[in-house]
Amino acid sequence: MTDDDKAIAQAIHGILREAYLHVPWTLDQTFSDMCRKDTVYYLASDDQNQVVGFLATTSVMDEIEITNLAVAKAYQSQGVASLLLKQLLSHDGTFFLEVRASNQTARHLYEKNGFDPYFIRQDYYQNPKENAILMKREP
Ligand SMILES: CC(C)(COP(=O)(O)OP(=O)(O)OC[C@H]1O[C@@H](n2cnc3c(N)ncnc32)[C@H](O)[C@@H]1OP(=O)(O)O)[C@@H](O)C(=O)NCCC(=O)NCCS
Repeated sequence: MTDDDKAIAQAIHGILREAYLHVPWTLDQTFSDMCRKDTVYYLASDDQNQVVGFLATTSVMDEIEITNLAVAKAYQSQGVASLLLKQLLSHDGTFFLEVRASNQTARHLYEKNGFDPYFIRQDYYQNPKENAILMKREP
């Protein structure tokens, strides 16, 4: 991993710390996830080339899972996540994700982009305990 990659991982981790009460990944986990062969990260930057949002995916064949999507607070509600999703969805495949039941912003964003709920995983999340809504978008 280059110094540039490390700086990107740190920026992503900073966005996660800001976005979540309980950060889902440590900095080391973020580094190692970025290095995996089956992951792809889509980045959004500001005009100073600072990362302000990211979308992380992992894929097996033509099945692509969104493992995380977050935008820095100062850049939210400006269409950044919509742009990242649009970039991802220009690829062929079936897309999967899971989202906290209470995360209305994210659920609205995914529904608007063609994702449908197909399963509820009871008490999947901790801190606070909450159901996960599993969603997918078929070709
Ligand atoms: C969910 C998240 C990624 C959306 O990013 P964003 O760049 O603000 O999203 P966009 O500006 O592209 O807006 C997408 C939709 O979300 C809705 N939205 C955005 N901010 C909102 C807010 N504060 N309240 C309610 N809805 C909101 C908008 O209605 C918009 O839909 P519209 O185009 O029909 O108006 C961002 O809020 C975030 O980082 N949240 C914390 C991390 C998270 O929950 N990630 C999802 C994990 S599954």
